[in-house]
Amino acid sequence: MINVGINGYGTIGRRVADAVAAQKDMKLVGATKVKPDYRARVAVQKGIPLYVPNQEVAAAFDRAGVPYAGDLSKLLSEVDVVVDATPELGAEYKPVFEKHGKKAIFQGGEEHELTGFSFVAQVNYTAAKGRKYVRVVSCNTTGLCRVLGAVDSGFGITKARAVLARRAADPDEVSKGPIDAIVPDPVSLPSHHGPDVQSVMKSLKITTMAIKVPVTHMHLHSLIATVRGRPTEEEVIGALESAPRVMLVDGKAGFKSTAQVIDWAREVGRPRNDVFEAVVWRDSVTVVDDEVYMFLGVHQEAIVTPENIDAIRAVASEVPAEESMRTTDATLGIRHPT
Ligand SMILES: NC(=O)c1ccc[n+]([C@@H]2O[C@H](COP(=O)([O-])OP(=O)(O)OC[C@H]3O[C@@H](n4cnc5c(N)ncnc54)[C@H](OP(=O)(O)O)[C@@H]3O)[C@@H](O)[C@H]2O)c1
Repeated sequence: MINVGINGYGTIGRRVADAVAAQKDMKLVGATKVKPDYRARVAVQKGIPLYVPNQEVAAAFDRAGVPYAGDLSKLLSEVDVVVDATPELGAEYKPVFEKHGKKAIFQGGEEHELTGFSFVAQVNYTAAKGRKYVRVVSCNTTGLCRVLGAVDSGFGITKARAVLARRAADPDEVSKGPIDAIVPDPVSLPSHHGPDVQSVMKSLKITTMAIKVPVTHMHLHSLIATVRGRPTEEEVIGALESAPRVMLVDGKAGFKSTAQVIDWAREVGRPRNDVFEAVVWRDSVTVVDDEVYMFLGVHQEAIVTPENIDAIRAVASEVPAEESMRTTDATLGIRHPT
């Protein structure tokens, strides 16, 4: 049994906490929270022990009448692995985890250098084995690595290019809106997403650009990969169907936009409408000469959830990659290719 603590119970932390609780080989010890708000109360109602990072927060919890189980030191004393899902405070917390001798999983908002190892399960699970610190890469990088990894394995990518239309804010980030603009982000090219993919797929040639669009759910990438082989569209689709955590959807079946992808998640009863898969529009997959084109959708809040679970197993168990991914996918309701 791997005892797991979550530092930061926000967009990512809440999802990872629920996913940890769903694993038979893991125990969710608790999560730290700063504001004693409705989310803290819901966590308590769900039986998730909350911990506070400092005395000031403890006093605020006392004043609000929200119970907590102790401070961060107490949480750390009870866990094997801590998942840091704070708003990019990893560099501040790493020495604290180190002092307690705990393994830690960080998120994509942190620099690669914080851990020296950036993780996407299907690409480099085995290389994460036994490491003390691992960084699960960002939502966009996770989606790109899953899809480009599959295309590269099948047909050998010589160069990839992607234009990312990114959601401007998460659904609850009301302070970032309302907005009425399409924002080149950054204006100076290329964007950081290409180098971030290379933190996982080190030899991949990739150049990216990104814009922010006024939506709160999902990113949409226009992706072009130049390949060595000359695959047919059916062969590219076959490679994507065989890849873990890639879901193919059809425009003809009603998936006209990202809105229908989220609606699908609602209809099938996914928790929080979460789409854990990288979503590729099957009808967008097009091959022209040696170039493969497609649209790729990324649900920013959800896609890194399975990677966090696999990263925990990679650093704290002997479970091999395929078994871990299969188990994670079964618990989260993700179709796993046979
Ligand atoms: N959101 C995304 O789309 C997304 C996707 C992939 C990766 N990531 C990455 O995941 C990480 C977390 O992002 P997020 O979107 O989940 O952030 P978030 O929604 O803002 O949640 C951050 C959590 O950390 C808590 N927190 C704040 N200050 C803290 C402190 N000093 N000590 C301990 N906990 C503290 C917050 O507590 P309160 O709730 O009490 O304020 C909140 O629960 C970042 O590295 C981000 O780049 C985010």
